[in-house]
Amino acid sequence: MIFEWSSEAGTAPPQGDVRCLIISEAQAQGEGLAADWAARVRLLSAAGLFSGKQGQVYVLPVMDPPEQPVVILAGCGKGQMGMPELRQLMAQTARAAYRLKAATLVVQIPAALGGPAGALMAEQAGQAIAEGLVLGSYRRRQYKLEQAFYAGLDTVQLRMERKSEAAEEEAWRQGIKRGQALGEAANLARDLTNRPGNLLTPSGLAVAAIEIAERHGLPAEVLDERELELKGMGGLLAVGHGSVNPPRMIVIRYQGTSQWENAVAIVGKGITFDTGGISLKRAAGMESMFSDMAGAAAVLAVMDALGHLRPKVNVVMLIPAAENMPAANAFKPGDIITSLSGRTIEIINTDAEGRIILGDALTYARQWGAQRIIDVATLTGAVASILGDVATGAVTNDQAFLEEILVASRLSGEQIWPLPVYPEFRELLTSEVADLRNAAGRYGAASTAGLFIGEFAEGLPWVHLDIAGTAFLSAERGVNPKGATGVMVRTLLEYLLRAAAEPDNFSAET
Ligand code: BES
Ligand code: ZN
Ligand code: MN
Repeated sequence: MIFEWSSEAGTAPPQGDVRCLIISEAQAQGEGLAADWAARVRLLSAAGLFSGKQGQVYVLPVMDPPEQPVVILAGCGKGQMGMPELRQLMAQTARAAYRLKAATLVVQIPAALGGPAGALMAEQAGQAIAEGLVLGSYRRRQYKLEQAFYAGLDTVQLRMERKSEAAEEEAWRQGIKRGQALGEAANLARDLTNRPGNLLTPSGLAVAAIEIAERHGLPAEVLDERELELKGMGGLLAVGHGSVNPPRMIVIRYQGTSQWENAVAIVGKGITFDTGGISLKRAAGMESMFSDMAGAAAVLAVMDALGHLRPKVNVVMLIPAAENMPAANAFKPGDIITSLSGRTIEIINTDAEGRIILGDALTYARQWGAQRIIDVATLTGAVASILGDVATGAVTNDQAFLEEILVASRLSGEQIWPLPVYPEFRELLTSEVADLRNAAGRYGAASTAGLFIGEFAEGLPWVHLDIAGTAFLSAERGVNPKGATGVMVRTLLEYLLRAAAEPDNFSAET
């Protein structure tokens, strides 16, 4: 999608299939609109069709077209939109444009947005607009004989209704660039997550990662099963053992400062299909378990965006990738395996596979010099019992670190809720015969799963984000489509971009 920005409407007529007008409740009553529009909008308002209420979108064919045959009226309520409201409104606008099969869209920016008197700064407004339009334009790829002809929006022209200073214009452009990068990263994660298990195996995920690394000239490493053996990644090997598609450990490094210091590890669970293994899942719902690599997709998409935006921050991405299958040679309940850290794990349930592969990845992240670790994983059904598909659950060993991520999540609009980490929960993971057991029963299951992973942080500041409820939706909601959401991509990027802007507040504490 190409974004163009210009100020002072009226100089040249805007070109495009569809135009979007952002209209407040007061304007819908006829206040302060250009004469040709005031009458029409007042009529719609009187008929109860469009009131300018926040988030409302109404498509209006225009019989005497000035430039576009169709206009999308987008309601901004009292005219005091924050980033979430503006992002959401633009996602709705993109969906309306999609239904109209528009290739180009003109969005008229109200004078109140971005200026010195505006509620939102130009950069925030530009970001929210671009982000919303890109997020709302996402469609899952279809694998059908008949290919759809319409390819979606390709150009968006943003036209400011008033004059603007050069500095404001630059802020708009920066915001648009950032919003587009964040939105496109989330869409990339959605695409990867939505790929079915037969079309995205662990080695396929590695190929996708190498492509992204090469595009940006980032150093990357893929360990195959032989190299995993040599390094001693017994957890990842055990989980991947039952599949003909062998496991991989995927690493990409992004160095944004002259020294490799204060590196943040972002670790994503990459189970390309989760049958449960010998502890087989029930059939109902298993078909969506191709999305069990949503964490991997999220961290990979973050690296793609870092490659575009080049912030001054150091990040190492790790993806343990495997397919969890039942087979004659699969790992079994009762097995005792040795992880990369040397810790032994008693297998209670082969369906609790995510924490095992993430354990090895955290140990490997330490070997790469990570100073703090964030892991993203579709880890437990239990988190969805607690938070539904509304919020991502967090587990941490460092409250201050989690607070920084919560700040980022308020900027992104992706909700996160902290889960309790009572010592009693940790005790449920003790095994009589090994250092840990991989399943601890139903009580506190989302917390215990997180705490299992945390053992492998070995005291480094660490935050675990359980996206099992939020990564994949059964119906469209907010800026998210049905299916994969790309959740946590924008939160991680907001966090990393803030860390790049104020390094002193984010470096490992002394
Ligand atoms: N990938 C699943 C968790 C999951 C469930 C993700 C539903 C998305 C939707 C995970 O590997 C799993 O199977 N967890 C088990 C753990 C249990 C056996 C201790 C669970 O939560 O039931
Ligand atoms: Zn799983
Ligand atoms: Mn599982």
